[in-house]
Amino acid sequence: MKNISVAIDGPAGAGKSTISKVVAKTLGLIYVDTGAMYRAVALYAIQNGMDTKNADGALEKSLDKISIDIAYQDGEQHIFLNGEDVSGIIRTPEVSMGASNVATLPCVRLKLVELQREIAKKQSVIMDGRDIGTYVLPSADIKIFLTASVEARAKRRHKELIEKGTSVSYEEVLLDMQKRDLNDSTRAFAPLKQADDAVLIDTTEYDFDASVDKILSHIKENMK
Ligand code: CDP
Repeated sequence: MKNISVAIDGPAGAGKSTISKVVAKTLGLIYVDTGAMYRAVALYAIQNGMDTKNADGALEKSLDKISIDIAYQDGEQHIFLNGEDVSGIIRTPEVSMGASNVATLPCVRLKLVELQREIAKKQSVIMDGRDIGTYVLPSADIKIFLTASVEARAKRRHKELIEKGTSVSYEEVLLDMQKRDLNDSTRAFAPLKQADDAVLIDTTEYDFDASVDKILSHIKENMK
């Protein structure tokens, strides 16, 4: 039987990853978080004192030394950077901004997109990111563009960070998010953009369960 692919794109904090995890479990798909891959490359640059925008070319020169792997443990994606499980330490605001920077570099994107396509070839996936419907999997069976107002997204992300024990103000999170949205949607190569054939779902007024219901029913109606 043919593998199914669901592409979910949208800006930071729209709820892509939390919703995708539940949808994956309900429908028996593998959830692929592509943002984690950009975060792992950013972590490598930060840990090695490199500019995440590659101003001096150091990051590009080191790309061969960066090995990214993903594995699934109890249905959860774990990401490995040169053999080390970095799933927990890639969620800081510093790494978020770094990821948005490394994501502007075509050399980084080409390396990661190859890995993402390989994963989708082998199994049925729900893959989240910024360019899945437009660039990584242009023939995905279902394409969703998930968004919410920037204030709603910043509020959710702030709550998440505080729950994890990161001390950060709402204003800082909001500013970071606005910066990242701009960075992601204005970059030249594979920017954040709704695919022409993607359905737009705005979750500003929905709580988590309502968002999951909306997406599940859209997928079920369109997956034939
Ligand atoms: O979880 P959040 O939405 O905050 O971010 P993420 O999905 O982990 O992605 C982190 C950064 O990686 C984004 O700001 C994008 O710049 C970049 N990214 C990308 O360019 N393309 C993807 N397919 C996924 C992430």
